[in-house]
Amino acid sequence: MSNTDRPFKGKIALVTGSARGIGRAIAEDLAEWGADSVILDVKLEDCQKTASEISSKYGVKTIAIQCNVTKKDEVEAAADRIKSEMGGLHFLVNNAGILRDNLLLRMKEEEWDLVLDVNLKGAFLVSQAMLRFLMKAEGGGRIVNISSISGVVGQPGQANYSSSKAGLLGLTKVIAREYASKGLLCNAICPGFVQTELTAALPQAVQDMLKASVPLGRPGQVKDISRVVRFLCSEDAGFITGNVIRVDGGTATGM
Ligand SMILES: NC(=O)c1ccc[n+]([C@@H]2O[C@H](COP(=O)([O-])OP(=O)(O)OC[C@H]3O[C@@H](n4cnc5c(N)ncnc54)[C@H](O)[C@@H]3O)[C@@H](O)[C@H]2O)c1
Repeated sequence: MSNTDRPFKGKIALVTGSARGIGRAIAEDLAEWGADSVILDVKLEDCQKTASEISSKYGVKTIAIQCNVTKKDEVEAAADRIKSEMGGLHFLVNNAGILRDNLLLRMKEEEWDLVLDVNLKGAFLVSQAMLRFLMKAEGGGRIVNISSISGVVGQPGQANYSSSKAGLLGLTKVIAREYASKGLLCNAICPGFVQTELTAALPQAVQDMLKASVPLGRPGQVKDISRVVRFLCSEDAGFITGNVIRVDGGTATGM
């Protein structure tokens, strides 16, 4: 592969929750275009395996960092390692996310707190810790937040998840406005139903219902999302900030 095929050569990317699923696909697509990558996840072994596979497949530098994005001290330690081992950061993708579905009447306080902590507070803590690098990134830093159409339409059974993902859209717009003058662009993607281990754990009837609700007639694949993240990190997206892009096969059209 020539250098013209690797427009991200010299760039450094951090993708949270990238040991598997959508996060891994994002890290792979950024690495395919030459970005050195930080694979950060709460699961150490999966994280190390993914980092080493991406490094050998795409010939980029990768490091694996075990970090729970809800813990400020762990996030700060991750920032220190990124500084000492990578020297800075150009792209941050806040992707780590979890589900703890329940009807509002039955939802436990712990289910609410955990989902808000991982999906929203995690993105706040990581963004805050990485801003010092992103504001100095040559060519302009980029943040892409992985929200969900659930945060746009409000999904029954997901009071915690929908609220966290809607909150992430607010955070996206604030970051975009606060740091535009530093050349930092921040956008959000709202995936619809995507086949991953996360959604494979849902009851089959729910999976069937979600699949049937996609006007394009197929469930999303991880590449449907990762390719849009890669576009948002590219020079072609240099005038896009504060935006929310739905990648849902048309599911939330008109909502
Ligand atoms: N799959 C879908 O249909 C879908 C739809 C809309 C949005 N999303 C969002 O996309 C993102 C990725 O989803 P996925 O389907 O790939 O999920 P996944 O469960 O396959 O992967 C999520 C990864 O995040 C990691 N993680 C979880 N909690 C963490 C924490 N506290 N700190 C660090 N890492 C943590 C997990 O270990 C895992 O590797 C999530 O934010 C999810 O909400 C997914």
